[in-house]
Amino acid sequence: MAITKLPTIVLGGTGYVSGELLRLIAAHPHLDLKAVLSDSHPGERVAKSFPHLAPAYPELTFSSLEAVTKLVGDLPDTALVSAAPHGVAAKLIDDVLTAAEKAGTRIRAFDISADYRYTSASAYEAVYKHAHGAPARITQFSCAVPEHLDTLPTAHVAHPGCFATAVLLASVPLLKLDLIEPRLYVTGITGSTGSGRTPTAGTHHPQRHSDFYAYNPLSHRHTPEIVALAAAATSVDAEFNFVPHSGPFARGIHVTVQAHARRGIRTTELLEQLGAFYRGKPFVRVTDTLPHVKDVAGSNYSFVSGAAGGTTIATMCVVDNLVKGAAGGALQWLNRAYGFEETAGLSAPAAGWT
Ligand SMILES: NC(=O)c1ccc[n+]([C@@H]2O[C@H](COP(=O)([O-])OP(=O)(O)OC[C@H]3O[C@@H](n4cnc5c(N)ncnc54)[C@H](OP(=O)(O)O)[C@@H]3O)[C@@H](O)[C@H]2O)c1
Repeated sequence: MAITKLPTIVLGGTGYVSGELLRLIAAHPHLDLKAVLSDSHPGERVAKSFPHLAPAYPELTFSSLEAVTKLVGDLPDTALVSAAPHGVAAKLIDDVLTAAEKAGTRIRAFDISADYRYTSASAYEAVYKHAHGAPARITQFSCAVPEHLDTLPTAHVAHPGCFATAVLLASVPLLKLDLIEPRLYVTGITGSTGSGRTPTAGTHHPQRHSDFYAYNPLSHRHTPEIVALAAAATSVDAEFNFVPHSGPFARGIHVTVQAHARRGIRTTELLEQLGAFYRGKPFVRVTDTLPHVKDVAGSNYSFVSGAAGGTTIATMCVVDNLVKGAAGGALQWLNRAYGFEETAGLSAPAAGWT
């Protein structure tokens, strides 16, 4: 008997995260890529924007929004994964969901932008300073790191940002196990793909390579998202003091979280507690060696470690911003939502040398 794969549509066209979605979907045993929406290049070959994906998609061309909305009306069941920019994604997803609703077909959405990460339009608008594109849809989305929410209460999912993913993986266990005072000091370093495909004066290669610097200290726009998601995962209102940095590499994030310990604790016990917290979570590995970005770059894995001494606990976490922090994390949610094995299409380890 032929195995039916789930029709899947990607929004986000020529962007970096869209490219990662296409790469991962090509190797996914249960997904069948039906269309990729491009706002700027409809009709053009996907392999022209992503030459490395030519072996997987030699002939596929980008679709228009009109073609995508028609397609979801023709297909009985579709997964929609969006890597469109914030401020654009909410309305775009709303258009596609509305087309499916009108046609009476089933669809579930997985959004990688910030648009559906907040629980109200006013919370979103306070951070992003523009009106939300589809406020009536907000309650149809849940937002969490997959490891921190066992049962999905809504049809659709918003994936947390890449920095938020790493910071939450390193800090939620400390808060939930009541190991620390709820005031956390976080240093995060991100590679240049975190800024997307379009270069700007502050983000393009000559500016970032061979250099290392902080930006937006204590005022990064992902901090309110981290605070809200940590509270949802732990029921603790914690203070996060977050200083992001630009790292001289293309992909990957390293975060270090420090906080005062509630009691004396040794490194061995800390690692045991972290290991127990993430037991049964296939993509989080608690290690007794300090994690490197190259341990996870290109993969959906996150390595977490830590140290305890005196009155302080420190945890470190590495993720790939484009995979675990975006495309892979969204597909991990998709796998769960559709009852596939959580690791389907995502279990390949990192390359190690990139
Ligand atoms: N980069 C990361 O590490 C990362 C991590 C976590 C989350 N995210 C989120 O993922 C999303 C994509 O990020 P990215 O890094 O891939 O950005 P990107 O490289 O700048 O790509 C975004 C793509 O969206 C499409 N787009 C732009 N305006 C559009 C419009 N008006 N309508 C429809 N499509 C439009 C463009 O492709 P077309 O013109 O071909 O449509 C563009 O290439 C963003 O929301 C970002 O915040 C990124």
